[in-house]
Order: sequence, then structure tokens, then C-alpha cells
Amino acid sequence: MVYVPVIPGDDAPEGKLVPIEIDGRAIVIYREDGNLFAIDDRCSHAGARLSGGKARNGTIMCPLHGARFNLATGHCLSKVQGFAPVAVHAIRERDGMIEVCLNGGNMGAESN
Ligand code: FES
Repeated sequence: MVYVPVIPGDDAPEGKLVPIEIDGRAIVIYREDGNLFAIDDRCSHAGARLSGGKARNGTIMCPLHGARFNLATGHCLSKVQGFAPVAVHAIRERDGMIEVCLNGGNMGAESN
């Protein structure tokens, strides 16, 4: 697994959706209760940017039609809609930098 340093940890404060790009792939980073999440910044329904939505309680809501996704697993939690999962990525903080691993596919935050 190859982690890529992306932004300083201070740039991802609690409760803020932070869009970034790695090798042309749009990702959104979110920190909640000290836990970091990295999820593709593209809704599996019609491609809206999830970073324009709202996140809380370990979930993120798409701004376009309101589908909610689990930030750790990427699974769609909206039973009526039941859209495909959104890819999530391994993420960690080392030496003040947030690092993301795209190779890990659907993996959540790594504990230190
Ligand atoms: S584009 Fe996200 S729910 Fe439709």
C-alpha cells in the first residue's frame, strides 16, 4: 500500500469537507471525532460532487438528490434509492500530513 501525502492535517479540521485531487481522481476528506475518512468525490447515482453536500455521524449526503453514504464503507444508506457504493480509501495522518492510499480500494481509516 502506497500512501501519498496530500494536505497538512491542519487543513482538514473537524467537520469540514475538504475536496482534493490525487492523480486526477477527485476525493473528499472528512474528519469527525478525530477519525479521518477519504471517499471519492463523485456520487454513484449521477456523479454530483459529494463535497458539496453535508456530512455528519459518519455519513455524507449527496447535494443533488439526497442519497446518504457511509463514509467508512461507501455503502449507500438510502434504502429507497439503493445506489452503488462509492469507493473509499485508506487514510492516515503522519508527521502533520494527511496521507491517502488509493491502491487500497475500499478501505477506511487506518488507526495509528
Ligand atoms: S447524484 Fe447523488 S443522489 Fe443523485
